[in-house]
Formats: sequence, structure tokens, C-alpha cells
Amino acid sequence: MPDSTIQQIKDRLDIVEVVSSYIKLEKTGINLRAACPFHGEKTPSFFVSPTRQMFKCFGCGESGSVFDFVMKMEGIEFGDALRLLARKAGVQLPDYHPEIQTKKNRLYEICETSCLFFEKQLHSSNNGQQVLKYLAGRGLTEESIKKWRLGYAPDQWRSLSDFLVGKGYRREEILEAGLAVASEKGGDSYDRFRGRIIFPVFDLNSQVVGFGARVFEKPGEKAEKGAKYINSPATPLYDKSRVLYGLNFAKTEIRRNDQCILTEGYMDVILSHQAGFANTVAASGTALTNLHLKTIKRYTNNLLMAFDADAGGDAATTRGIDLAIGEELNVKVILMPKGLDPADVISQNPEQWAKLIESAQEIMSFYFETALNRFDAALPSGKKQIAQFILPYLKKISNAIVRSHWAQKLADILQVSEGAVLEEMARIETGNDNSIGSYAPACPPSVVKTEAKSRGALLQERLVSLVLNYPSGLDFIDQASLELFSSNGAKEIVKTLKSRPVESPESAQAICQELSGRDKEVEGFLGDVLFWSEVQPSEDGFAEIQLC
Ligand code: CTP
Ligand code: MN
Repeated sequence: MPDSTIQQIKDRLDIVEVVSSYIKLEKTGINLRAACPFHGEKTPSFFVSPTRQMFKCFGCGESGSVFDFVMKMEGIEFGDALRLLARKAGVQLPDYHPEIQTKKNRLYEICETSCLFFEKQLHSSNNGQQVLKYLAGRGLTEESIKKWRLGYAPDQWRSLSDFLVGKGYRREEILEAGLAVASEKGGDSYDRFRGRIIFPVFDLNSQVVGFGARVFEKPGEKAEKGAKYINSPATPLYDKSRVLYGLNFAKTEIRRNDQCILTEGYMDVILSHQAGFANTVAASGTALTNLHLKTIKRYTNNLLMAFDADAGGDAATTRGIDLAIGEELNVKVILMPKGLDPADVISQNPEQWAKLIESAQEIMSFYFETALNRFDAALPSGKKQIAQFILPYLKKISNAIVRSHWAQKLADILQVSEGAVLEEMARIETGNDNSIGSYAPACPPSVVKTEAKSRGALLQERLVSLVLNYPSGLDFIDQASLELFSSNGAKEIVKTLKSRPVESPESAQAICQELSGRDKEVEGFLGDVLFWSEVQPSEDGFAEIQLC
């Protein structure tokens, strides 16, 4: 991508406008301020500078251009941010393929038009009224129904297809969007979703890319045969192995809480958000994949799994745990009351859901719980089954102390010696060598945020910005302290300032300007520091900004 294209996009977009479309900014002096979307905080320490066209959080150290902001906020790669911002700026990218783009746009349009059609059916048809009653009975508010754009597909063979054809779309396009199914007898294709409650699936920008559809049982009538849920197939817009239902609404909260709750179903997600647990998502229309988890990992390293408490749910949880460990996520499991899913718990009592989240279990505890539910620890045969279930997991724990902790627990439960447990463990083979030692309680995987600046680096920035505003402070930094600076930029700047007469903040800044341009490291550091010093004097409560 030529630099000129990137520059052109930057020139056309105002960072203030882009950032404001995500978070609420307040004017303060020449800059704008907000609570940082990238870490939890009470005193807002996130600033946007219209003159510099950059943002910076003085609490966590995140900073950069409009591109950095969008990448971080959306959890997307540079290429995707480029496309997104190019579209916003009305700049055409050199590798733009009009045919592919047009085709995709048509599919987006079809999905959007269909979504509107289903919504209209829900809100204005007779059957729709019954569905609305059903949804209200399940605890959904009118606001949630609108926000998630729920709909109803009439129980007819071609109502949507005919509607779309009337709007000028071709039957092949409707097939390609996954909304119709080809007729085996060679006649016209027919609607995929009929007589069902519609859950549109959104991409990260809240554009509709697919649908989930739940069977609707009219009061007094038995539901039609067929699966409880059917989903759009994979399409050029809908990559099921990546899309997470609800992520468009959850991404900011996941980042803020530094935690993501992963559920199984559409209703789980909607009711969670409605009850204030907006960091909740679900894999939509398919089993969980490692690509889903990679997507989550862009926002947080901490995953809470909340799958149904039934055999299917347990299997899904176990599989999910293995995948999540493979992606180096810190996983905990929310233990569901028997026979309930998150939607059930929340509609009964949202406070209970908060408690269950609070007491999410370490993975090993989950395995113990599962084994004890399944087998009887009082019987010799039950003891053997429990051991067979637990030992492979135990064996995978790489840390000896952690392993011993759980071996002890297993020995206690089985009322045998720890030696017997270890002996038995030595005899079993583990299927793979995917080490899970790091997840156990004694040594949680380190959550390293590589991009975030260290506290030391932030302190140095803050110190230098202070002496820029109050040059008399330079006298307090002696040679020995100077040596303690880890940042060459900080060292260079302070050294130079100390070697020259500095009467005022203006002359300090002028000296800095001279330095900038000579050295990339000094220049980068200076950019941040000047932003600090600009923000500092105008701010009430600036001193309260907590470094994290
Ligand atoms: N699902 C699916 N296809 C199916 C069954 C289930 O895609 N044939 C997905 C749906 O996303 C569904 C989730 O798996 O939301 C969980 O399924 P299930 O527990 O059967 O449904 P609930 O979400 O509990 O649905 P409800 O509460 O409306 O009965
Ligand atoms: Mn349910």
C-alpha cells in the first residue's frame, strides 16, 4: 500500500470524529478527554489531540494514530483497518476489485433488506404478534428485540424470495446469500427460513451477514419437524468459523472488563446483554473453532465458558477448554445449575448469574465436578472411573507443585494415598502433549500485554513532561538519577535541557524541537511528552491519573 494512500486517508479523516463514533469525548482545553476504552479506570486519562491527530492514554500508555485506534478498538489487523477507514474517508484503494466489491455489496444489501423484512413481519403481522408475546414471555424487553433486530419469517414457501425478487435481486443472488434453498425438482428456489423466529448475525460493524432461526411453536400447536435452530450456510460474507454472535455489541465491554463470557446460544447472549453482562458472545451456527478464540484474544486473554449443564454441554466445554488452552487463553468455567443454560438463569434471577460468574471454576475444578457428577465416589468401580477421567488431565499439568495439589485432592476424594494416584498416573498414556500446566491456580499464565508501555516508561514520560512545564524542576535531577532512566529519549532530552539555560516552558519546548529530527527515538518520545505537557496544566484531576 503506497504511503500516499495512507496519508490521503489520514488527511481526509478527523481522528476526533472517528474516536467519537466509538466513545463519548469531552472537550478540555485544546484536546478532548474520555475514560479509556482500553483499560478500566475511574479518572479519564484518555486524550485525543486534534492538532496532533493522535490519541494517548496516560494511564495505560496506549497511543497512536487513527489507524492504531481503530485496529485496537475493533480488534482488527492493519489491512482491515485500512479498508474500513478508506471507506469512511471515501478513498479508493489501489487493489480495489470493483466486481468482487459489487458482488459483496449486493449480498450485504440482500441481508439488510431481508432483516428489515423479517423485522416488519415480527412487528406488523398477526403471527408476529404471537411471536412478540412469546419473546416477552422469555424475558426479552422491547428494547432488546429492537437492538438485536429480531424478526419473524412467515410460514410460507417463498414470501421472502418473492419480496427480494420484487426489489430487483436475482434468485441466484438470494441463494448465494443463504436465504433460499435450491429446489430439487428444478422449480424456483424456496425460502430457507419459514415459520421461524429470526436472529440476525452481525459482523463487527453491525452489518447483517447471516441468520439463525428458531422454530416457533404457536400456542396449542406442536412445532413442525426439523431442528430447533437452523442457520445460514457459510457465504462470502458469513465465515462461521470466525463470526461471534454479539461481538459487535460486546467488544468494548470485553476489553473494559478484560474478560469475555462465552455462551452457547442466541438467547444466552441477548439476555446476558440485557441484564448488564455485555461482555458476552456465542459461536453462531457452528461449533467453537480456534479462529473464534483467536478473535476473542484480540480483546482479552481471559475467557469464561458458560455452556449448558448437560452431556452435550460438558463435551463442548471440554473441547472448548482444549482449544482455548491451545490459544493460550486463561480459561475458567461457569458451573451451570443442572438442566439450565445462562438464558434460563438470567430470566429467573440475574443476581444469581452474577454470583455464578463470580465463582467461576478453575479448569481442574470443573473436571473434578464433572467426574463426581458422573460417577459414584463411594463405589470401587466409581473410584476407578473417576480416576480414569481425571488422571489424563492431571498428567498434562507440567508444574509439579500444581500437579501434586490436584493429585492430593484426587487421593482425598478416592480415599487412597497420593502415592497410589501418582503410581496410576505414571501408567497412563496421554493423547497429546498439549501441556496444560500453566492454567492451574498456582501459576496462571502470565497476561503479557506486549503493546502496553511499562509503568517505568510512563513515569519517565510524565517526569519529562513536568520539567517541560516547570523547568526549575531540572535542578532536582542529578547525574545519578539521569543514569536511572531506561529511555534514551528521556535521557537525551533531560541532559540537553540541563546543559542549557532554560527560562520558561516555551524555551524548553524550543530546545526539544531542535532535538527532534536528529534521532528517531528522541522524536518518538518527544511526541508523547509534548502531548503530556499540553494536557497537564489544563487538567483538573490530572494528578489523579493512575498509571497501570
Ligand atoms: N444451535 C444451532 N443449531 C441447532 C441447535 C442449536 O445452531 N440445531 C445453536 C444455536 O445458536 C442455539 C445454541 O446452539 O442458540 C444452543 O442450542 P440449544 O441449547 O438447543 O438452544 P437454546 O439456545 O437454549 O434455545 P432456547 O432457549 O430458545 O430453547
Ligand atoms: Mn435455552
